[in-house]
Amino acid sequence: MMNQSHINVVILAAGQGTRMKSDKPKVLHELAGAPLVQHVINTSKELKPKYINVVYGHGGEQVQEIINDADITWILQKEQLGTGHAVAQVSDYLNDEELVLILYGDVPLIHIDTLADLLNQAADGIALLTVHLDNPQGYGRIVRDKSGKVKNITEEKDATDDVKKIHEVNTGILAVKANLLKNWLSQLNNNNAQEEYYLTDVIAMAVKDNFTVHTTQPDNEFEVMGVNNRIQLSELERYYQKEQANRIMAAGITLADPARIDIRGKLTHGKDIFIDINTVIEGNVSIGNNVSIGANCVIKDSKIADDVTVLPMSILDNASVGKGSKVGPFARLRPGAVLSDNTHIGNFVEIKKSFIGVGSKINHLTYVGDSLVGKNVNVGAGTITCNYDGANKHQTIIEDNVFIGSATQLVAPVKIGKNATIGAGSTITTDVNEGELAITRVKQKSISGWMRPVKKQ
Ligand code: UD1
Ligand code: MG
Repeated sequence: MMNQSHINVVILAAGQGTRMKSDKPKVLHELAGAPLVQHVINTSKELKPKYINVVYGHGGEQVQEIINDADITWILQKEQLGTGHAVAQVSDYLNDEELVLILYGDVPLIHIDTLADLLNQAADGIALLTVHLDNPQGYGRIVRDKSGKVKNITEEKDATDDVKKIHEVNTGILAVKANLLKNWLSQLNNNNAQEEYYLTDVIAMAVKDNFTVHTTQPDNEFEVMGVNNRIQLSELERYYQKEQANRIMAAGITLADPARIDIRGKLTHGKDIFIDINTVIEGNVSIGNNVSIGANCVIKDSKIADDVTVLPMSILDNASVGKGSKVGPFARLRPGAVLSDNTHIGNFVEIKKSFIGVGSKINHLTYVGDSLVGKNVNVGAGTITCNYDGANKHQTIIEDNVFIGSATQLVAPVKIGKNATIGAGSTITTDVNEGELAITRVKQKSISGWMRPVKKQ
């Protein structure tokens, strides 16, 4: 294994990305909920490199602001004069004994194993990641001699018809010792069809200096595919999602349809989980054992314990669901919703910044916000905690074993003591003591012989 503390990663991200047709720099376009370049940074970090440099161009301030990572050295390439010129901007930051790994900010799905292999190959000088494409058009071709040794890389625009027939292409990703790279970069020129400083020209220089240019290939083509337009972005998104679906299925999750789940972040999970179609997982989500997630749920930065059932159309955001609970259909758990074990949160119920005690049930058409709800509480249909007075938020406390009748408003701040009962249709504005019945209903009047109005002719 390579000496990891000597890896210096250089991520090229200065390209304009004109074909994205966007005001946003290309590398900030998102794949699985994270900027393209973030994927490259995350994978780089797994290699535990000494440094990560990102070469940026126009719109770089935006990139720095969004990536906002103190571990990164940002290097401006004022003018985009080619990939060799881009890497040359980093020369002063490279120490001779380091192994430099060059990555592209718009090639997001490269695998850690592929990079580790490449770095190993480069131990005695230089290694290239290449790939055989059915259609090599547009790429730099890997030109080999009769014995099969790499001679050079020839860009499409500089290639003869014979060279254009080569299907082995340069992915752009390469690893090279820093002292060699710096020397070769200083010799680059732009005498070529595009009048650019080609990084690829260092290959012929290496050969001239009697180095063997090692090559290695990724397991999957999509690892080295770049994003130039929104169609390619969507294609890579699907590859990525398919890979994740396969991974979680292998680890104990049944998916109703692996093509209809999107994971935009990190899912940690147990086993015997069933996920129905169209679920979106965002941020950091953890799901315990024996959990069922219904169709069309969105689960973001939330924790779901064992034996939970989430019924269709539910939305969880920064919520936590205790063991054995049942949520939905059509439930919305907003940030700070903490459900204890064996709770039931039913249809059209919204919970925000509230703790719900063990075994409590809030089954229909209810809003509970800024509340502390005890154990075994039953909240009737259409209950509202009126937590906002137009300026400030106030707390509602509902103690253990309280029964709240339907269509009740609890005007916060207010506290309902243990075992209290609230009659249906009440508007509660002052605290209710333990064991009391509180009811604010207008006394019912029944008028016999009542005539309904009739429509005028
Ligand atoms: C490059 C390679 C080619 C390879 C292909 C793979 C060279 C000369 N050619 O070609 O052999 O097959 O990638 O996709 O290296 N960039 C900068 N600054 C620049 C120019 C580019 O940061 O001045 C960045 C771009 O943002 C991009 C990457 O470098 O991420 C590659 O640049 P691009 O212009 O796409 O290179 P290609 O011509 O496609
Ligand atoms: Mg390109």
